[in-house]
Amino acid sequence: MLRVILCENAARWASEAADIIAGVIREKSRPVLILPTGGTPMPVYDALAQSHADGVLSFAHTTTFNLDEYVGLEPTHQQSYRAFMERNLFQRVDIPAGNTHVPLGVAADMAAQCQQYEQALEQAGGADLAVLGIGGNGHIGFNEPGTSFASRTHVVSLDERTRRDNARFFSSLDQVPTQAVTMGLSTIQSARRILLLAQGAAKAPILRAALQGPVTESVPASILQCHGDVVAVLDLAAASQLEDLSVEWRAGLRQMA
Ligand code: GLP
Repeated sequence: MLRVILCENAARWASEAADIIAGVIREKSRPVLILPTGGTPMPVYDALAQSHADGVLSFAHTTTFNLDEYVGLEPTHQQSYRAFMERNLFQRVDIPAGNTHVPLGVAADMAAQCQQYEQALEQAGGADLAVLGIGGNGHIGFNEPGTSFASRTHVVSLDERTRRDNARFFSSLDQVPTQAVTMGLSTIQSARRILLLAQGAAKAPILRAALQGPVTESVPASILQCHGDVVAVLDLAAASQLEDLSVEWRAGLRQMA
């Protein structure tokens, strides 16, 4: 089932999303989270770090797995997703360093690393919650249009649009890596619960396609329609092209393409 939580302002949006994540952390004895990068989750990480600073949220027993990483960037590179996570969340809370997992963009044997990443997630008991942003072309993690719904962690070539969208974090477009390592769509779907985050009018058309259009590998995020427990926390602009928000869309009503 897909539930949409519509938020009237940015502060409300961040606190709704953070509350869902904090709820899973508090409810489970050993919570396992899949986490995203990008501009979207930053205010949510701020809210979580604030709850920790206020003494009402501990990450001491939480384990995290990030969705993806750029191939070719050292973990210490400012724009690596490992560095992003350290800056925006890990260094601001009490999560033990050994509990945080981000794929390594410079692994000698990428295929072996992908397998080990899957195994580590499985050994941790699978994810209680996968937190996702969405790319303008419908990608989740770095699963670009055309990626198999059956995919597990793998190396991908980035779409030109994705590289352009992410160029704002780099000094120029040619600095943006051309490849990434990402959890697959099937890996993401295996999370027990999914929290999809989006804000802003630029995401409205792709949200409409992903959440209410046909389930198709050309819109990777449309696979979420087949998950049993998805909550999308959206602002009014991001949700502006969704139809009939009073209706709950139920997984299983649509056949996978
Ligand atoms: C990146 C990440 C995705 C993220 C997407 C959207 O490419 N790999 O996980 O969801 O971009 O980014 P933003 O939140 O900055 O719009």
